[in-house]
Amino acid sequence: MNILCAYNANIDSIYHIDGEELSRLLADHPDVQEKVSKPPGSISLVSDVLAGIVICMRDGTGAEWLVHDSEVFDWLKQTFLERSLMRMGGNMGIMSNVLSELGASKVIPNVGSLTELQASFFSQKSILYPHNGKLYKSSELGSILQGDASSHELIHFVFDFKKGDTLTLAGERIVVPRENRFIATYDPLNFRLHIDEHFRDYALEHAKEMDGAIISGYHMLQEDMGDCDYRERLDSSLEQLISWKKENDNFHIHAEFGDFSSENVASYAFSILSPVVDRIGMNEDELATLARMNGMDSKPILAMDPVEIAESAISLCNDFGLCRMLVHTREFVLSVSCMKDDDPELIVEAMDFGVKCAAAFAFSGKLADRETLLDIASGIKESEFGRDASSRLGKYLVEKRDCSGICGLFRSYQLSIIPTRICAEPVSTVGLGDTISAAIFLRELELNS
Ligand code: GLC
Repeated sequence: MNILCAYNANIDSIYHIDGEELSRLLADHPDVQEKVSKPPGSISLVSDVLAGIVICMRDGTGAEWLVHDSEVFDWLKQTFLERSLMRMGGNMGIMSNVLSELGASKVIPNVGSLTELQASFFSQKSILYPHNGKLYKSSELGSILQGDASSHELIHFVFDFKKGDTLTLAGERIVVPRENRFIATYDPLNFRLHIDEHFRDYALEHAKEMDGAIISGYHMLQEDMGDCDYRERLDSSLEQLISWKKENDNFHIHAEFGDFSSENVASYAFSILSPVVDRIGMNEDELATLARMNGMDSKPILAMDPVEIAESAISLCNDFGLCRMLVHTREFVLSVSCMKDDDPELIVEAMDFGVKCAAAFAFSGKLADRETLLDIASGIKESEFGRDASSRLGKYLVEKRDCSGICGLFRSYQLSIIPTRICAEPVSTVGLGDTISAAIFLRELELNS
């Protein structure tokens, strides 16, 4: 399979934060408490970073806030960089590595800042970088690399935390209900959905030879970007997607949503992408945000009620002209599709493949070829919650179909749901949704070819 990947790749600096260290940092920043009750949603001061971490640890939720101040970025680097684990970041970066490691033939990424360090995190298997109309392997990059690297590194600080950890804020003891992560992102290029000119030209010229594209990074766009308007950025991306589809009738596009900091941007992105892309992937937090913005109750979604998740996914598809949505949660993966006659077993087989790859990635923290990943996954248990949720949703399906998960029609959409596999001590939880989505996309392309 030949696949284009756009738009966001960066470096993730993963840091395991625990309650003890956080409590120590909190002692020096008394203004955090106020920010916890009134979340700033973006980062201009060190106390904003700490408030973001506290909120996520208190609620067990995930979030990503953008760093607007270079001094805070310097503080992050000085305080955490040395003790962190650096690896590929950005939904597109992670998804392109998944495709390459799992055996796609050509994976062509849009890389905003191609430094030596950034390139070192890309898979060596089938990633090819476009430049002046030609493709280059990473060993051939040489002069194409960005000079003066240090000022171009796009580093996102990913604060991973564990379930059951405790911290104290203003005398109150907080117990972390679930493992998750808070991301403090410094990224002036992906903020603007940067499209590399070499990628743009190559992709258009070769769209005919491609099987499809995986697209993401819209969530990084800001409502207020001074000289540049998020609608213009989204419109030019959309034009690009349409131009690929024009060149090739059989071109499949998966868009991966994301944690938007602005509801207006999220709403605009969802509404313009829906009628054009083949499907959109997202997690339950992102679905809840979209649902709430569209007048639905988001609480049952956040409480992981599978029936409400299916209902809201279908309502959003209906209202916005989207044919297919893939919702990946910690406990289960669910697909709703307007293509009622598609073979449900094929969808379930692809979802099962995605679940296994993500479980193995969580367990080992590394990607590998598919045999290795499937082998690791075979030792990881299915989510019990996910199994119960699947059979509960199964009761609402009409025309149950024969498949190795739970499949049938629900509000005239073809629905499939399977439990995930959960390892007790994940190396990291960041990028699991991307891994699931990319693996499912690749497997479906293969099974349909
Ligand atoms: C977002 C973050 C990035 C992270 C990715 C994981 O794109 O910006 O740092 O790697 O999510 O899904």
